[in-house]
Amino acid sequence: MTISTDSLFHRARREQWMRISHGEGVYLYGEEGQAWLDACAGVHVVSIGHAVPEVVAAMEAQAKKVCFTYARFLTQPQIELAECISSLTPGDLNRVFFVSGGSEATESAMKIARKYHVERGNSSKHKIVSRWQSWHGNTVGALSMSGRTPWRRDYEPYLLDFPHIRPCYPYRCSYCRDSGTCDLRCADDLERVIEQEGADSIAAFIAEPILGTSCCGLTPPPDYFPRIREICDRHDVLMIVDEVVTGFGRTGVNFAIEHFGVVPDIMATGKGLSSGYTPIAATIVRDEIYDAIYNKQSSFVHGHTYGGNPLSCAVALAVQQYIADHDLIDNCRNMGERMLQGLQVLESNPIVGAVRGKGLLTGVEFVADKQSRAPFPVGRGVTAAVVERVLDRKVLIMPGAPGLVDGVAGDHIAISPPFTVTEAQVDETVRAVIEAVEETAKDLLRL
Ligand SMILES: Cc1ncc(COP(=O)(O)O)c(C=O)c1O
Repeated sequence: MTISTDSLFHRARREQWMRISHGEGVYLYGEEGQAWLDACAGVHVVSIGHAVPEVVAAMEAQAKKVCFTYARFLTQPQIELAECISSLTPGDLNRVFFVSGGSEATESAMKIARKYHVERGNSSKHKIVSRWQSWHGNTVGALSMSGRTPWRRDYEPYLLDFPHIRPCYPYRCSYCRDSGTCDLRCADDLERVIEQEGADSIAAFIAEPILGTSCCGLTPPPDYFPRIREICDRHDVLMIVDEVVTGFGRTGVNFAIEHFGVVPDIMATGKGLSSGYTPIAATIVRDEIYDAIYNKQSSFVHGHTYGGNPLSCAVALAVQQYIADHDLIDNCRNMGERMLQGLQVLESNPIVGAVRGKGLLTGVEFVADKQSRAPFPVGRGVTAAVVERVLDRKVLIMPGAPGLVDGVAGDHIAISPPFTVTEAQVDETVRAVIEAVEETAKDLLRL
């Protein structure tokens, strides 16, 4: 029996929906028995695969005890998960503030940064500097920090007056694209903006260490974040990293900022914390930030009803335990190398500009002209055509968010399967993507 979808206010209107009945491992199954290899982990979320019995058992065990308690209480899963997270995070990022999703985590990071400066007597510090071609979430503060033009446009009247700098994107950087080597002028832009706005107005800088949905797998050179750290320190500006996509192993280490050897002041996490089994996210701060906030105050006036609920904490704890027990971050690193190597065949394809990635966060960018790197005209539908052709091969990948070139144009795809993916499944994914891109190129160029 087909039930009407008329009561749903969904994120998109479609004539036809793929209906999922269940998932298992790296596969999602449709109501008519079709199987799709979930090579984007939902949306870079499902790190350990679907329906893992250990997680379901932890969920049931906690549900039988208690699913919800409010912020005036503590529960054992919350305490244990905070301890587990602080044992994974670099340096003295030891204080864990629980929320329910990535936007709440970045929004909380923004407020924590502000509160830190207020408590230290610097109450004019309020702006957060971020980068274009970035994504930090949909709530008003998070969207104000985000650098994604099409998703900001309708809500501009609500957005905060936060400065944005260029991303570190050597393939298209107006500073270094001709030399082919990043000389960190994009990082130095942060100092220019801080000085231009006045350091006394800037509370923090936020960036994704390695890009997720905006330009999947884009990785700055190793000295980019050390330079950012230096600039932040010079101006008493807090450094926030958004690890909502990259956190908990996706780039082959616990947190992507580890690739750069620096410790940020605040870290926003989400997706991979619970592998999507329940909604939970966390903002983690250095001891010094926590101490400054609680030096004279007995509360931090910000929080959400479901933050730190015992059910989600127990589930996330089971997920992190499963990752550790099965050495899944090692597998993520190894399978990521295999995936990237396999996809690099595409570098010679006439519509492929770049293939990039770190761990199991990989992306392919498409261009109309390899020499000039000109993107396809907006509306040509290149991204959608590739994603559909991959889907025809029973593999799910993600369309990259629009506007990666200049806020408007730019086609790209994201491939990010669960860390449990096998060599054979990586090869199947690579084959599907290569065939889909080749078919699309033939169609576009009438080869
Ligand atoms: C890097 C990054 N930060 C924050 C968010 C927002 O997370 P959520 O959609 O869980 O609110 C996302 C979502 O895709 C993201 O990719």
